[in-house]
Amino acid sequence: MKKDIYTLGIESSCDETSVAIVKNGREVLSNIIDTQIPIHEKYGGVVPEIASRNHIEAISRVTKRALKEANITLNQIDAITPTYGPGLVGALLVGLSYAKALSFANNIPLVGVNHIQGHIAANYITYKELEPPFLCIMMSGGNTQIIHVKDYTKFEVLGKTRDDAIGEAFDKVARVVGLGYPGGPKVDNLAKQGKANIELPKTHFSGETLDFSFSGIKTAVINLHHKNPNVNKADLCASFQKTVTETLMENVKKAIEKTKITTVALAGGVSANSYIRQEFMNLQEKGIKVYMPDLKLCTDNAAMIASAGYYNYITGKRNSMDLNAIPNLKLDS
Ligand code: KG4
Repeated sequence: MKKDIYTLGIESSCDETSVAIVKNGREVLSNIIDTQIPIHEKYGGVVPEIASRNHIEAISRVTKRALKEANITLNQIDAITPTYGPGLVGALLVGLSYAKALSFANNIPLVGVNHIQGHIAANYITYKELEPPFLCIMMSGGNTQIIHVKDYTKFEVLGKTRDDAIGEAFDKVARVVGLGYPGGPKVDNLAKQGKANIELPKTHFSGETLDFSFSGIKTAVINLHHKNPNVNKADLCASFQKTVTETLMENVKKAIEKTKITTVALAGGVSANSYIRQEFMNLQEKGIKVYMPDLKLCTDNAAMIASAGYYNYITGKRNSMDLNAIPNLKLDS
């Protein structure tokens, strides 16, 4: 019988300190998430230095809880799999340094994970049957990409944002209309009460590119709100959400046409958006298979990191103690 593999994932790239134990890449035994959202809320966004300090305070406690909840000891763990990029360098260094110490002291292999690879892997936890190849639409606070997932550890980025990430645009719109941080879920909720009746610009690039741009619509919303502070906020949120979703869908359809791949998965915090989820579900009527992580796995968590870490581990990836945090780590480099 094949031996079970247990990975211990560590996530600290932004404002969540999370540690998880995952069995064979797909079964979550524990996934402890210590969020710093209430701490950063009063600043209207993540303050990097404060994030690092809070990761230091939380990491040991969160790790102990993850092991206890999984009812497992460190000597049963096959690999320590921390996020080492992309993200805030100080925040990444806390989780990575802790992972190195655990690995070194207990003689457990260290296997680094790209945070975006982790978001993609959230789908493997939700759908036990999902296997590559597929297209993944990665939408978070720092990234917007269309990725060809060729295999569990092989990726090609087909298109990406040339300026703001989609989550950044959601957060900025929320801030401008006075909804606070993190903005995405608040825009999502308010939009449900509004009508998408305000015309907003969409950026198109000429040629074959599948790249995005979200800075134009973000600025248009800011200008519109400054010129007319009495504009209906719910209508503005609904119009913004509809327009960015249309931009996304246009490129996704082009990617499907270009690659002939008819399986599409969503990933990243913005894939928790109810309108975006509904629009993607509608693609199923056109014969596209659509996958999206459980809501609790869309935003940052270590279970997705431990899942991706498992696939890195079984394909032979090992890192040494000189693994460093890489704030702008690319997926296909
Ligand atoms: O993936 P994530 O947790 O962190 C990054 O790796 O960036 O994504 C956070 C982003 C934030 O911009 C947040 O506002 C957005 O995801 N978000 C949403 C929703 N939930 C979270 N955006 C739109 N609608 C939501 N329901």
